Amino acid sequence: MPSTAHGTAARTRLTLAGALASLLVAAGVAGGPAARAHEGPAHAKPRTTLADLAQRHGRYFGSATDNPELTDTAYTKTLGDEFDMITPGNGMKWYATEPRQGVFDFTAGDEIVGLARAHHQKIRAHTLVWHSQLPDWLTARTWTADELRAVLKNHIQTEVRHYRGKVYSWDVVNEAFNEDGTYRETVFYKTLGPGYIADALRWAHEADPRAKLYLNDYNIEAVGPKSDAYYALAKELKARHVPLDGIGLQAHLALQYGYPTTLEDNLRRFSRLGLDTALTEVDVRMLLPATEEKLAQQADWYRDLTDACLDVRRCVGITVWDYTDKYSWIPAFFPGEGAALPWDEQLAPKPAYFAIRDALR
Ligand code: XIL
Repeated sequence: MPSTAHGTAARTRLTLAGALASLLVAAGVAGGPAARAHEGPAHAKPRTTLADLAQRHGRYFGSATDNPELTDTAYTKTLGDEFDMITPGNGMKWYATEPRQGVFDFTAGDEIVGLARAHHQKIRAHTLVWHSQLPDWLTARTWTADELRAVLKNHIQTEVRHYRGKVYSWDVVNEAFNEDGTYRETVFYKTLGPGYIADALRWAHEADPRAKLYLNDYNIEAVGPKSDAYYALAKELKARHVPLDGIGLQAHLALQYGYPTTLEDNLRRFSRLGLDTALTEVDVRMLLPATEEKLAQQADWYRDLTDACLDVRRCVGITVWDYTDKYSWIPAFFPGEGAALPWDEQLAPKPAYFAIRDALR
């Protein structure tokens, strides 16, 4: 069948590209994770990791991870070696941490914090206030403002206290705005009004005064109505001395929608407000099948976004939303799309991985 023949040809090209990359790695030309197996004698100098390279610029390079995949030892090896910042992809969300009202369960988050500490990695904790992945007990009923304020404060302070001293930062409020820059009509906004954001930041700060506190969202990489809303809010919060340290730009990018060319300008304007910025959930998805051309374009985007962060002093680091296509959330959430991360499903580094290294060197 022609479609099968075409698919086979595409796969063959990809396999050839993969094989070439593996050869370069084996030859020590680029020193990807696969190089380790070929390093041989104990005196061999360990290759530099993305974290090492980022640290030379005073930045971190992180990955999200999730509890189910921690049994995959080949996966956890690279997770432990290559990165110096870890974000639990789900384990610290409300549904996971307070499954029944007032009953807290930190086992998922603790497992990831424990693994990160064993590898001397820091934690970007994610997330305290979000309209998604809430427990049923919270969404199934209506709340008065007083009730919900108490519920929110207790959730934030119990969780932040539990992780006090163990995390670098918190995504305190996630995805608070619509695309047009109006407030998203979440249960928190509708019940408490826009002041819930300042309250959440203050409560989190009380519970862990050292953690860096962030607002985090997607589609705010470019200058536009949604990032303008964050700019205006951040400016106002700073003026009122609300404890806000940074803005997290998720950077879930897609080749078919174009690169956010104003990313660097955007990062810079938040810096000028005295805020840190970070690229917090980076992936660059594409319509499948992946082709050599798309993977090359993806590599360019990873290089460009890394350059943009390095060029802005207060852009403190980059986190990919897991590092391998094997565990990416994209195929499940965007049917027909994928191949979004710097390592492929076999845990082999893709052109994007080498492009990130280039940018960091
Ligand atoms: C995603 C996780 O990766 C998935 O495993 C989960 O099923 C849904 O959430 N923006 C965010 C993240 O802030 O929390 C989301 O993570 C991806 C989009």
